[in-house]
Amino acid sequence: MGWASPRRRVAPVPRSPRNAVVWAVLDAELTRGPAHVVDAGGGTGGFAVPLAQAGHTVTVVDPSPDALAALARRAAERGVADRITAYQGDADDLGGLLEPGTADVVLCHSVLEVVDDPGRTLAAVAGVLRPGGCASILVANRVAAVLARALAGHFAAARDSLDGELDPRRYDLEGLSALISKAGLVPERAHGVRVLADLVPGAVVDVEPGAADALTALELAMAERPPYRDIATQLHVLARR
Ligand SMILES: C[S@@+](CC[C@H](N)C(=O)[O-])C[C@H]1O[C@@H](n2cnc3c(N)ncnc32)[C@H](O)[C@@H]1O
Repeated sequence: MGWASPRRRVAPVPRSPRNAVVWAVLDAELTRGPAHVVDAGGGTGGFAVPLAQAGHTVTVVDPSPDALAALARRAAERGVADRITAYQGDADDLGGLLEPGTADVVLCHSVLEVVDDPGRTLAAVAGVLRPGGCASILVANRVAAVLARALAGHFAAARDSLDGELDPRRYDLEGLSALISKAGLVPERAHGVRVLADLVPGAVVDVEPGAADALTALELAMAERPPYRDIATQLHVLARR
């Protein structure tokens, strides 16, 4: 499936300080009309369902039957079950489930932390993308894990995790970019996701009128700016095939 008219925005979902950056990147990528989106490890459909609501065709591949059952319920409630196809399976097997080179966008969100071999998973992601298509890759940031340990008073653990020893499945931008390049994709843009959202007390955001919107605007403004980007809870890379 290729790009088609008409133009439409991506997702009728409330943007929050936690998810606004990723949705903004997807918004910018998906302005050319209905696309075929593959959500590798898409879970309960937090992205798949809004994308289907926006008119895209979504294929979710996830090994968890519970997650897929929740996805099916959510898709039915929102009236988009016909636009979502779900396979119970491993992201590494995308190539066996889908036609190679046919996806416009592949999401790989919070999955490289849990798969057996992140390099193999990214190669599978690259394999189903059409030339010019893009992968949206979201991972846990090692820097944020170090800071979180230190702020919780676990100073020795924070020191150990400085060199990545405690967190082999948390990433820095350099390591993630190298992994993406090795899979045959070209990293195009990098963002920090949740630079402040996990640090600001919930009470401040929930109680102050307009605070959530202001924090969302701040997250969007900081997302591509080092050093703010580099301390975010998650790192997001948009990579092109
Ligand atoms: C933290 S959740 C993220 C869900 C979703 N991508 C999101 O961002 O909301 C991780 C997901 O990866 C799935 N998962 C675990 N191992 C996987 C694998 N080998 N291939 C694909 N998905 C996997 C889990 O079932 C779960 O749904």
